[in-house]
Amino acid sequence: MEHNDKIAFMVHPVNVEGLYFILGRYFPFVQRIPLFYLKGLIQKLPPFKFLNIRRIKSTTGKTVDGIIVVCPLLPEHFVSMPQQVVINKILRGAQISQELGAKILSLGGFTSIFSNQGLDICNKLEIAITTGNSYTASLVVEAILKASNFMNIDLSKSSLTILGGTGDIGKACAQVLGRKVNSMNLIARDQDALADVRRELENVCSARINIGRLEDKYLENADIIICSTSSITTLIDSQELKRGALLCDVSLPPNVARNIKKKRKDIFVFEGGYAKLPFYNEIDNVIFKKYFIHENIFGCLAESIILALEGNFVNYSLGRGNITVEKMNHINLLGKKHGVHLAPFFCSNQVFQDDDLRSFSQAIN
Ligand SMILES: NC(=O)c1ccc[n+]([C@@H]2O[C@H](COP(=O)([O-])OP(=O)(O)OC[C@H]3O[C@@H](n4cnc5c(N)ncnc54)[C@H](OP(=O)(O)O)[C@@H]3O)[C@@H](O)[C@H]2O)c1
Repeated sequence: MEHNDKIAFMVHPVNVEGLYFILGRYFPFVQRIPLFYLKGLIQKLPPFKFLNIRRIKSTTGKTVDGIIVVCPLLPEHFVSMPQQVVINKILRGAQISQELGAKILSLGGFTSIFSNQGLDICNKLEIAITTGNSYTASLVVEAILKASNFMNIDLSKSSLTILGGTGDIGKACAQVLGRKVNSMNLIARDQDALADVRRELENVCSARINIGRLEDKYLENADIIICSTSSITTLIDSQELKRGALLCDVSLPPNVARNIKKKRKDIFVFEGGYAKLPFYNEIDNVIFKKYFIHENIFGCLAESIILALEGNFVNYSLGRGNITVEKMNHINLLGKKHGVHLAPFFCSNQVFQDDDLRSFSQAIN
């Protein structure tokens, strides 16, 4: 049997369907437990290995294996349980990854956000840790540039709004796109933190930078909106949005109500931060392949895969606000070297080919 380097990815259910999907694999009777009790039960459940994945192959011929570890908490638990209890649980999941031979661990979803983007656990581990946010942010930027091109949006005249402007991914995107757009509106709840980010970005960005809250009407005139927040509830639903706007939802759980597509046929909504692996069909694990709709994997998972394919087991993205443009470009180029690319645009069950974007653009212009 071949011995490949191993990556680990820590996930958690982002909603009730995800919870039943993950637990149902080991405990078939779980469907019969009323949700109220199940939510109580999982808080006491320790992290566990969910899947072994074999043969994640690069176009260079190099192959890595992986494991998926589950931190059994829903987003509502991450925000409501005592912080130290949550951190201990994430740390245990990381230790399991290490015990099972992984050399690098990507922290998925809220496991990165609630471990202070990995900083709270990295010193207690021997394996490398990454949030995967550098690659995720680079994919978001790449998607925005591609979609703007299709939609004939002149970036130099456009207005960009980022929900989660002080966040790790939001700020990273702002660093790149703030050099291309005309005005940039950064949204978060903590206005002091926003003012700090604005001061920092004003040194490197050409765009006029506004800061504010969701209620401050920075959505209605935006040509491009990126949602990258840690909110556990929907933030964009019935607000006024500009005709022809691009709306990219990176957040998990989502920030954008998915039925917005039905109500607003004149805006382009897609899920951001996803990558496509080469040789997806050769990956040895049916459940893994079922887990990722349209074969698009999270950018944060892809980051550890790319680093492992390079044999570079380092803490790549760690701590909030440390992502640089150079790091984003570097990991994106490494991805391409291994055949890992930006995923096609999609939203829920709908995938958009380039022709769909062209027709959409013609219809609204
Ligand atoms: N697609 C992927 O592959 C992928 C990869 C990694 C992460 N993600 C998702 O991306 C999102 C962002 O991750 P991150 O690591 O950048 O998180 P983060 O560093 O914790 O940043 C979260 C940001 O959201 C803001 N925020 C939280 N609640 C808000 C609200 N109600 N209204 C407005 N702003 C709010 C925060 O500021 P305030 O607290 O001041 O409001 C902060 O700016 C998460 O949902 C995560 O699960 C997706």
